[in-house]
Amino acid sequence: MGRLTGKVALVTGAGNGQGAAEAKLMAKEGAKVIATDINFENVTKVVEEINAGNLGSALAFKHDVSSKEDWIQVVEEGVKAFGPITVLVNNAGILAPTTYDKLTHEHWTKVMDVNAWSQFVGMQTVIPYMKKAGIGSIINIASMAVVNSSGAFTAYTASKGAVDAFSRAAAIELAPFNIRVNSVLPGTIYTSMVEDAFPDQESMDAAVASQPLGRMGRPVDVAYLVVYLASDEAYFTTGTSQLIDGGFNVQASGSTAKIDR
Ligand SMILES: NC(=O)c1ccc[n+]([C@@H]2O[C@H](COP(=O)([O-])OP(=O)(O)OC[C@H]3O[C@@H](n4cnc5c(N)ncnc54)[C@H](O)[C@@H]3O)[C@@H](O)[C@H]2O)c1
Repeated sequence: MGRLTGKVALVTGAGNGQGAAEAKLMAKEGAKVIATDINFENVTKVVEEINAGNLGSALAFKHDVSSKEDWIQVVEEGVKAFGPITVLVNNAGILAPTTYDKLTHEHWTKVMDVNAWSQFVGMQTVIPYMKKAGIGSIINIASMAVVNSSGAFTAYTASKGAVDAFSRAAAIELAPFNIRVNSVLPGTIYTSMVEDAFPDQESMDAAVASQPLGRMGRPVDVAYLVVYLASDEAYFTTGTSQLIDGGFNVQASGSTAKIDR
């Protein structure tokens, strides 16, 4: 028996990077997985890999997470196929870096819609099914930008801060229904998002060198945490912000201490 046997999990942004790793690991642990992405071709490939490799059971949907209509349709069809959703992983997101002076209202709204409104409306759509099932785990993917951001990520940082904050409010509101809500704050995880953020070898090397463990995270590193939060092992874990950053945020910058190792 898998750690998620009996669960029905909806994972957004499952066509690539962390979402793909989460969908695969959750299926392997026994969940029925509703995998969605705005890029239908990519998410279909992920689902084919899961189903063909006997890694579990999954369905692919085209889904723009910023559209309430899409959410209603995907959730209705997913529930029809697999039964009530008991795990929601709000993973889809965009980085869209823009410097402060060039940040327009249009850009701000787009980033907020895809990264934050999407997660709220996803919860709103799925929660009635969790209430009916009497159990639920919602995992909202924020970012370490909540605690440590850098230039050009103003809108992104604001959107992830919103995710982290409303997850805490939702955890309290939903606790009486046995629905847990946690946010995950990944550090630098090697995906296409990071390739876009560090487009040349020099900046990529510098980003790796800044990691205490001497390496970036892998999508599966985050997927292991997500599986834990989705499982009944996390029975008493709600309202938390789970930083997973390879120690990036606790290192002292500019330290000159030299110690024999
Ligand atoms: N990679 C990192 O270092 C890092 C760090 C912190 C947080 N995150 C967060 O982790 C999550 C996953 O990022 P990733 O690194 O796997 O990135 P990624 O770019 O590899 O994957 C993101 C996926 O989201 C999908 N997507 C984008 N817009 C969408 C929309 N409107 N509707 C539905 N799907 C959409 C993309 O098609 C893609 O498949 C994001 O929320 C991101 O902000 C990433």
